[in-house]
Amino acid sequence: MIRAQIPTYTADIQPIFALHCSTCHQPGGVGPFSLLTYQDVVKRSKFIAKVTQIRYMPPFPADRQFQHYANERGLSESEINTIQSWVKGGMAEGEKPKAGMGKAQVESSEPRKPDLILKMKPYTVHGDGREDFRYFHVPMNLSEDVWVDAIEFVPGNRKLVHHSRLMVDSTGTMAGIDGIAEDDPHLRDFQKTPLADEFMYGWVPGNDRVTFPVGAAKRIRAGSDLILNVHYAPSAKADQDQSEVRLYFAKVPVARVVKTLSLTENNVTNQPFQLPANTRPAFYMNYGPIPDTIRLLSVMPHMHRLGRSMKAFAITPDGDAINLISIADWDYNWQLTYFFRQMLVLPKGSTIIAEAHYDNTDQNPLNPNHPARTVGYGWNSTDEMMNLVFYYVK
Ligand code: HEC
Repeated sequence: MIRAQIPTYTADIQPIFALHCSTCHQPGGVGPFSLLTYQDVVKRSKFIAKVTQIRYMPPFPADRQFQHYANERGLSESEINTIQSWVKGGMAEGEKPKAGMGKAQVESSEPRKPDLILKMKPYTVHGDGREDFRYFHVPMNLSEDVWVDAIEFVPGNRKLVHHSRLMVDSTGTMAGIDGIAEDDPHLRDFQKTPLADEFMYGWVPGNDRVTFPVGAAKRIRAGSDLILNVHYAPSAKADQDQSEVRLYFAKVPVARVVKTLSLTENNVTNQPFQLPANTRPAFYMNYGPIPDTIRLLSVMPHMHRLGRSMKAFAITPDGDAINLISIADWDYNWQLTYFFRQMLVLPKGSTIIAEAHYDNTDQNPLNPNHPARTVGYGWNSTDEMMNLVFYYVK
C-alpha cells in the first residue's frame, strides 16, 4: 500500500526510533535524554535530523561498505530520508496508537539465567567533574575450568559507566590492582606480568550480551580472576557504581574452543611504537603467514585518544583480500567488538595486515597532552596503544 507522501510520527518515525534509538535513549539509558514519545522527539527534531543525517547517531564507527557485522547499527538511506521529510513536512503525529500499542520495545534476547555473576566492589566517583579510569579485581573462585559461551557486562550506573574492558588473569598476581586509578604510578607494576589470556570482552553502551555460535565456548581456567577496566564519564556529583559481569556456561558439548588472538604494538613492523610530539605517525602490522586455518568470529580494534583511523584486512595465499575492519574516524568513546555475520575463514598461510594513523599534534583537539609530548605504549589513556583483538575458532 502506498502511504501519503508526508510521513507521520506514528506510522513512520516511531518504528525507526524503537528499532534504532530507544535502547539507549530511554529513562535510565545511556543516552542523555529519552526518545520514546512524540513530544520527546519533536522537542529535539532539528538536532535529530542533523545527527542522523551525518550518521553520528546511532553510533557505529566501522565502515559498513568495507565489511558487514552481526551487531551492525545504522539507519538506511531511506530511514534517514524519512526523518528528513518528516521534520521538513511539519512533524505530523498521525493517528495515535491504541493503548498499549506502539510502545517502544527494547527487544531483549530470550531470557537466559547466568551461571556466574561477578560483582565488583561498590565504587564511588568523586564528583569532581573529571573522567576516572579504574581497575577492579574480581575473584572468580573457580575450582574447576569453565566453558563460557556468552558474556554480558551490566553497568551498575549507566550514567557513569562509559566503557569497560574485561580481562582474565590466571597469574594470580593482580589482586592489588583493585580500585586503583590509571594514573596511579603503582599500575606500572601490574603491567610487568603478562596476563595469560588477557582480553575477554570490550563493552560500550548499547552492547548486548555476546553469545558465541552454538558449540563454541571460551575456556576459563580454575583459579582465574577477572579484571575490569572501567572508564567513568565526568560527573558533577559523587555517585556510586557497582557493575557486574554475567557469565553463561555452555550447555552443549564444546566442539570449538573460542580463542583470542591479540595483535599488539609488538606486531608493529615499523618499530619503535613511538609517537613523537607534533607528528602524525602511522604504524603497520603484518601478522603471518598463519600456520593453521582459523575462523574469525569478531574483531575489536583498540587505540587511545590520538588514534585517527584503523584498517585491517587479510591476504590469503591465493592473493585474495578479506576485509576485516575499517574505521575512518576513530572514536575513543565508541569501541565495539564487531562480530562478523558469518565466521570469516582465513586459510592457512594467510597474513593479517593492519594500518593505524595517529595525530599527536597540538592541533588535535582530542590530544590529552597539552602541550603535545612524545607518547609511547602504555595503559594510561594519555599513552597510546595499537591492538586488534580477534575471537576465533579453529
Ligand atoms: C548505543 C547507544 C545509542 C543509540 C543506539 C543512539 N544513541 Fe543517541 N546518544 C547516545 C549517547 C551516549 C549520547 C551522548 C554522547 C554522544 O553524543 O556521543 C547520544 C547523543 C545523542 C544526541 C545529542 C548529540 C549531541 O551532540 O549532543 C542526539 C540528538 C541523539 N543522540 C539522537 C539519537 C537518535 C535519533 C538515535 C537513533 C536514530 C540515537 N541517538 C541512537 C547513545 C545512543
